[in-house]
Amino acid sequence: MADDLEKPDPRPAGGDIPDEPAGGPRQARELDEGRPVGPTPPMDFWEALYSRRSVRKFRDEPVARELVDQVMHAGIWAPSSCNYQMWDLVAVDDPEVNKKLGALSLQMANAPVNIVVSYGREFSEEAWANVQSASALIQNMSLAANVLGLGTFWITQMGDAEKVRETVGLPFDRLVIAVLALGYPQHPAKQGPKRRPLGQVTHWNHYAGEPIPSSPDPADWSPELLAIYQRARVLNGLRHNKPRPWETRALLALLERFAPREPAGEARWLDVLPCTGILTERMARERQAYRFDVAERTPEVAEFVARRTRPAAGARAWPPDGAAEGFDPPPEAAYDVVTCLFRLEDLAPGDRPALLADLARWVKPEGRVLLGFVSKRSFHDWTERMRARRGGPKGVEYVLSPDPNVGPFESLDPAGVERLCAGAGLRVEERFGAQAAPQPEELAFRTRNFSPGSRRVALALGKVLGALDALPGVPDARGRFRFLRLSRSS
Ligand SMILES: Cc1cc2nc3c(=O)[nH]c(=O)nc-3n(C[C@H](O)[C@H](O)[C@H](O)COP(=O)(O)O)c2cc1C
Repeated sequence: MADDLEKPDPRPAGGDIPDEPAGGPRQARELDEGRPVGPTPPMDFWEALYSRRSVRKFRDEPVARELVDQVMHAGIWAPSSCNYQMWDLVAVDDPEVNKKLGALSLQMANAPVNIVVSYGREFSEEAWANVQSASALIQNMSLAANVLGLGTFWITQMGDAEKVRETVGLPFDRLVIAVLALGYPQHPAKQGPKRRPLGQVTHWNHYAGEPIPSSPDPADWSPELLAIYQRARVLNGLRHNKPRPWETRALLALLERFAPREPAGEARWLDVLPCTGILTERMARERQAYRFDVAERTPEVAEFVARRTRPAAGARAWPPDGAAEGFDPPPEAAYDVVTCLFRLEDLAPGDRPALLADLARWVKPEGRVLLGFVSKRSFHDWTERMRARRGGPKGVEYVLSPDPNVGPFESLDPAGVERLCAGAGLRVEERFGAQAAPQPEELAFRTRNFSPGSRRVALALGKVLGALDALPGVPDARGRFRFLRLSRSS
């Protein structure tokens, strides 16, 4: 009974939702009538909507509290489940408190104001209506701030939400949903991320599409879906990812061992499926004597990567039969070097032989194919299992997003890859493995959420494994990265 009193069922018989809960929290004369609480600069609604961008760099300039109030007032005029309005906001403009928030997550160390958004912990949990209500409020605030010449940035990566709550003195009963950073933008908003096209994400009356799988398993992805996903990620969000130092080191080892610095005469290099082009950019910088082409699934991604190299690479199509008008496949037997790095891993197993056969087709008879992949006979899968543990990020996107393998991914059995190569007309000339132990930067990154004790143990273990990595033969047998130098066998 007590439970019933504390948590009234908001749904009256018949399933209608009341406009306001009976005996609402305020008396009628106290009710807010819904007028802006400050001057409203003119801005067309549509301009306000489409010009809003996440702003992550702010001027070192305070924001008047009246303006922050105006933004929060726009927020509380968002809809909420049953109009319960169980949100509580704490606007932090005290630099000392912001410093404490910034220590929990660097994301909160950027703006002069951080608005901590909370909602009644056990209100409207059904269908996450509490989160939906708070999100509507945040979006209202973001749009209002835009009209007022302010920038915002929606933060869910706030470290430990409970610590954020404690830092601003919210009681346990409030659940921190997100933080909205607010301030004057340092730079005018650039065009910023785009959106997937309307026709790809909306349907009339009945769903008629093929959804992007919520799965990191390559077998669940068709080539078309991979093309759609990678184009969207590369063009809309992954432009500025930085290379991971341990991957760059592996790439440099490959170039050192298998890629001549000074080819004889005019030489051509084809990089197949570079995706974001992080590795291509570095290869082209390290091997300037070659003329580069890249082959990708869509012209947009191919051109995006091609523009990352100096001089710009040629943009080519893969697979060859999927080429569009004016987007041609690479010429046959034309390349001195063909690279394909960490790409077999994102293809469904049945699609891998065709990719390898194309590499064989494009390399010159006396040229070389350099294939790189992540070995299943290494510690790699273990690091993936560790990823989401101990408060680490959860969600399939954390497997699908990292460069250079944007998309699904599975490590591969080296013997199986060599069998596939033989079947595709490629002979193994040389092979080597690199990094049989996680590299120090990766260990530091992966253990950042561990308790100090567990972190010390993990780092010590990393040192022992690092010593093993120096033993002859160990990286070749157990290295995470495996590289093959291949030639055409016919
Ligand atoms: C629920 C949600 C959570 C977000 N969390 C973060 C975050 O923790 N860190 C961050 O940098 N951006 C975050 N963002 C901002 C998105 O990255 C951003 O909205 C997206 O890239 C589109 O860019 P735009 O806002 O400029 O249109 C978040 C956005 C939403 C809606």
